[in-house]
Amino acid sequence: MTTTQSRLPAGPFPRHRAGLRSVAVFSQKGGSGKSTVAIHLAVMASRGHRVLLVDADPQGTVAAWGASRTRPAPMIVRADPTNLVEVITSAQRENFEIVVVDCPPHAVAGTAALLRLVDHVITPVQPTMPDIAATKSTVAMVTAAGKPISFVINRAPPRAAEVVQAREALSPLGPVSPITLGDRRAYARALTDNLAVSECARGDDKAVAEVLRYWIWLDGHFLEVDTWQRRRAA
Ligand SMILES: Nc1ncnc2c1ncn2[C@@H]1O[C@H](COP(=O)(O)OP(=O)(O)O)[C@@H](O)[C@H]1O
Ligand SMILES: [Mg+2]
Repeated sequence: MTTTQSRLPAGPFPRHRAGLRSVAVFSQKGGSGKSTVAIHLAVMASRGHRVLLVDADPQGTVAAWGASRTRPAPMIVRADPTNLVEVITSAQRENFEIVVVDCPPHAVAGTAALLRLVDHVITPVQPTMPDIAATKSTVAMVTAAGKPISFVINRAPPRAAEVVQAREALSPLGPVSPITLGDRRAYARALTDNLAVSECARGDDKAVAEVLRYWIWLDGHFLEVDTWQRRRAA
């Protein structure tokens, strides 16, 4: 399949901070879209940064996606909570700027340790009752690890009241991305071709646009959290 990135605007991409930032995509709820979000964020961020995508899920979705890829970025590596420190340390040494960790589906042993190692946690939430109900225990784990969390509503149906309700239910628990990711077959199709939506020649422009806008929001959000933490430490 021929691929192109020309449907994306040419830079400049946000480059808020020098040094390494690490983000875990984590949820207690299986199937919420962790791997899909981790892959799409990592590919989008690769347009402006050196990105390492870490597959910390024994299911190995990201590693399987990356195995037959011909694109050089993002770099993909498998890890588990026992060697994640080593992976992040060597990413720092090798001048990576962003590490995205795709986490296991449930809080397996070592998940708490993994969460303590990253700077930020993002949680995809589908706008359904079971997903929303599961966020409380996700937030509890992330809070216990002392890390900031933000949510992104994933697989959102168009113009649905559920999305508004999900946003209202999540807002008291943490920042919710104003950009939602739609329920689009393009995400699964791209992954089947070992690509992200932004890399498909005949992809879904709406999917590409929402991933781009989500990444830009997230990058700004990271900056706000960093500034707040620095102020608190001063
Ligand atoms: N935004 C989306 N639109 C449509 N399907 C999606 C979307 N996000 C995830 N999916 C699908 O939902 C299923 C679970 O997604 P996945 O990323 O593997 O979740 P997790 O890693 O949390 O288990 C997959 O079949 C995936 O293709
Ligand atoms: Mg997964």
